[in-house]
Parts: sequence; structure tokens; C-alpha cells
Amino acid sequence: MTEADTMTRAAVPSLDKALAFAGQAHNLYIGGRWVDPRGDASFTTHDPATGARLAEVAEARVEDVDAAVASARRAMDDPAWAEMKPAVRARLIHRLADALEANIDEMAALETLDNGMPLADARHFHLPYAIEQLRYYAGWATKLTGETIDISGGGTWHAFTLREPVGVVAQILPWNAPMAMACAKIAPALAAGCAIILKPAEQTPLTALRLAQLIEEVGFPAGVFNLLTGFGETAGAALTEHRGVDKVAFTGSTEVGRHILRAAAGNFKRVTLELGGKTPVIVLPDADAERAIEGAARSIFTNAGQVCNAGSRLFVHHDLFDEVVEGVTRIAQSIRLGPGLEQGTQMGPVISSEQRDRVMRYVASGIGEGATLRGAGPGREGEGYYVAPTVLTDTTGEMAVRREEIFGPVLCAISFADDDLDRIAAEANASEYGLGAVLWTNNLKACHRLVRKLKAGTVRVNGGGLDPALPFGGFKQSGWGRENGREGVEAYTEIKSVAIGI
Ligand code: NAI
Ligand code: MG
Repeated sequence: MTEADTMTRAAVPSLDKALAFAGQAHNLYIGGRWVDPRGDASFTTHDPATGARLAEVAEARVEDVDAAVASARRAMDDPAWAEMKPAVRARLIHRLADALEANIDEMAALETLDNGMPLADARHFHLPYAIEQLRYYAGWATKLTGETIDISGGGTWHAFTLREPVGVVAQILPWNAPMAMACAKIAPALAAGCAIILKPAEQTPLTALRLAQLIEEVGFPAGVFNLLTGFGETAGAALTEHRGVDKVAFTGSTEVGRHILRAAAGNFKRVTLELGGKTPVIVLPDADAERAIEGAARSIFTNAGQVCNAGSRLFVHHDLFDEVVEGVTRIAQSIRLGPGLEQGTQMGPVISSEQRDRVMRYVASGIGEGATLRGAGPGREGEGYYVAPTVLTDTTGEMAVRREEIFGPVLCAISFADDDLDRIAAEANASEYGLGAVLWTNNLKACHRLVRKLKAGTVRVNGGGLDPALPFGGFKQSGWGRENGREGVEAYTEIKSVAIGI
């Protein structure tokens, strides 16, 4: 570490606390207790900014999964949870949000150490979003209802539906937005009255471990929340196959999503999947070019492109193409790449050396197949997993860079010549994914027409971001079901129909 690094690190609020926490021994949290993993196994995590060892974390194996599932099942039968009034559940979730808020600097520093993202993003976007998820769904705990239904069969009936918690849920997280995703998953499950086994990604377990401590302090009954740190192929797979698990909620790769669907078939688990994307950003000729440039750059370069909804295909009308591509390239070249803890860093490293190599392979394959490298930001020498923001033109629809999710700061810019909305939509929809689409235009008619034609779970026009109230999920191979909003919490419930002859 240089003297300058030491100085910036000294300016990071609560970094000492975060480092002390990272340095502790980390166990599994099962049944309201911190326990050693059965096999006494552990694994090492690394700081993506330096590659240095960051933490040593318990590795859950199959027996630990059994113990966590048993503990969650007990919690579902425990009147302390099963009969807790919705308003009390709501207050507990709010208290958890308060606890996160009280520790927000430490949590943000931990998130940056673990994931590599710029501290300002962790502190001012990821943590506030996590807290808002908890608050939003705390409100739903008291608003989940069934209906009364008039039925037409013979006799006189009082018929109604009850909305009940789905039961024990396994929630498997990715590494790209660890705390935002953790809270987006636990909040609706807690609001609905489920018991949870959370498995964070093996690359980023630290904020989930700290969250488990806060959940314990806040006073949820034992077994309502269990935390298993470990790997996907072992702990994750065992959770998805387990007969004692009623639902799996997963965010990650489409490939693993497919494994999970198969594993869930054993006992017909309910499944929500939030998978990959190849979001098109469409700039129509009337768009405000300056705003579109800024938005398009933000859409692909935020979080170093490691966002399921990253705008990785930019379609620009011929009249604006040069201006927009030059603008986005200029931004790419000006982005300050560096350690997330360094002040002024605009883009951090990607999560791992594997991810960096994967992204670089895509760029090389695109160029090898004839794409033009329009510009890339300056790279960064030395340790850490840095990838320069990159803009490619002259790609074709057959190239891997156009078809596959790169999950890095790599943009393919494509021009279109006509105003035929069907053609534009067909190009944008030419993907096996359908998570998001972004549109830049002030043409009301074209906007509404395109919104209907685009095969995407979320369409954003002229900006806009994530909100806990707005359903989020994918068409096609981008997933199953929706998170957020009413749909997000109802996905943690079962409907029971009751008909009483009167
Ligand atoms: P991954 O899908 O393998 O990992 C995500 C989570 O799934 C982790 O918690 C992992 O432990 C778990 N997991 C892995 N295999 C599992 C299995 N067989 N059963 C149950 N759980 C399992 O993603 P990975 O390998 O880290 O990244 C590869 C690519 O996946 C990325 O380059 C990106 O394209 C995509 N991805 C998409 C994300 C999204 O937000 N939609 C998030 C993370 C990755
Ligand atoms: Mg994987």
C-alpha cells in the first residue's frame, strides 16, 4: 500500500470497524446461534482492488444445509413466529432497517472491501436501497390479504381465500450487489412470515454476515433467519435439492438458473429466478442526445458493468450515431478506474481474476471477429482485477459480444437507419434474454408503440432506476417471476381456498 492509499483509507468512515469485522473468524448462523461448520471447513475471500486475502469464512456443507433447513422448519412451527401479529413482524423489519442505517458506514466499507465497488456507490446507493427494501416490505406485512368470493354452485357457501407464507425459503445471492440483493430477498420473505436460509455468493459473504448479527440484535425468533456461507456446487445445490425447502429464490447466471429449476422439480419447490440480461438501449432520432449519452454510459459502466440489467447493446439512429458514440467513448476514457476505497474512484475492479479474464476474452473475441475498438479507458497496472471501460462498433448479431451476457464494462454500439419501429424492436428483441430495455425519445407515439413491442420485464424511458415498489424480473431466459412490488411479496405466499357451507 502506498502512502496515498493509507491516507485515503484513513478518511473512510468506519473502515477500522469494517476491517476488524472482516478479520474475525466467521461461523454459520443456524437456529439463532453462531456455529462451527460440521466439517470445520473454511474458505478465503479476496479484496478485488488488490487481490490480497480479505477474510476467512466458514464453508457450509450438506450436513450444515440439513441443520439450517431443520432450524427453519422449526421456526415455521414455532408460535413465536407462526403466530406473530403482522404489525409486530412489520416493526421487527423496520428495526432491522434502523440497525442497518445506524451502521451504514461500516456496512458500506465492508461492501466495498468485499465487492470492489466505489465507496460512494455502496454508501449512497446500495445501502440506502437495501434499507428502502426493508421499509417498503415492512409495510406489506400488514397488507397481505385473501378475498371473499361468491361461488355459484348449489347451496349456500361462505368462500374465501387465505394467504399463507410459502414456508421455508432458500435464497441464493450473487456477488454484484450483495447487500441490495440480500435485503431485496429477505424483506418480502420476512413480511410474508417465511423462514429463511440465505446463501450469499462465495466471493462476497461479509455484509450478509454482519446483517445476520443485526438480525440477531433486533430480536427475530431463532431459526427465522439462517445464514450459510459456502459454494454454489455444494451448499447451493444441496439447498435447491432439499425436500425440506418450499421455495428457492435465486439471482445469478442463466446456466445455474437452469440447474435450479431441475433440482427444484424433486418436490416442486416454488422458484423465482432473476437471471442474465443483454439490455438494449435505443436512442431515437428526436432524443436529447446529451442526456442519452450520459444515460447510456451510466447504464453500462455502473458497477463496472456487473449488473444484470446493464445496457450492453446501444442502438442509435444513424443521425445521432457519431455524436452519441463519441460522447459515450469520451466518458469511457475519462472514467477514473481505481480501488473503491480511494476518493474520486468512479469505477472499481471487477469481482475476480476469473471475471476479468472472462470479460477480456469477450473483448478479444469481438475484435478478432471484426469489431472496431472505438475507445477504451486507460487500464490500470499492478494488482487488482481492473477492466477498462470499452466501446465496440461494427459488431454483428452473430458475435458472442452481441449475444452473450459479458457482465463487464463493455458496450456494443449499433446504428440503425430507418424509422420502422417493428424493425428496431426486432433488433432489440434479438436476444435470448428479456430483462430490460431502455428508450431515449420524446416522441410520445413512438415511445408507447415501442414499449408494447419490446420483450422485456422492465422498460425505462428517458432514465429512471430501480424501486422496491416496481416489479422487476425477466421475459424469456432472464428469469421466472418478479421481485419487488406486490408481486414480489405474493411470491412468498400460497393461496388457500376455503368454502364453508352455511
Ligand atoms: P453463478 O450463477 O454461478 O453464482 C451466483 C450464485 O449461485 C452464487 O451464490 C453461487 O454460489 C450460486 N451457485 C452456483 N452454482 C450453483 C448451483 N449449482 N446450485 C445452487 N447455487 C449455485 O454466477 P457466477 O459464476 O458467479 O458468474 C458467472 C456469470 O453469471 C457472470 O459473468 C454473469 O454473466 C452471470 N451473473 C448474473 C448475475 C445477475 O445479476 N443476473 C449475478 C451474477 C452472475
Ligand atoms: Mg458460476
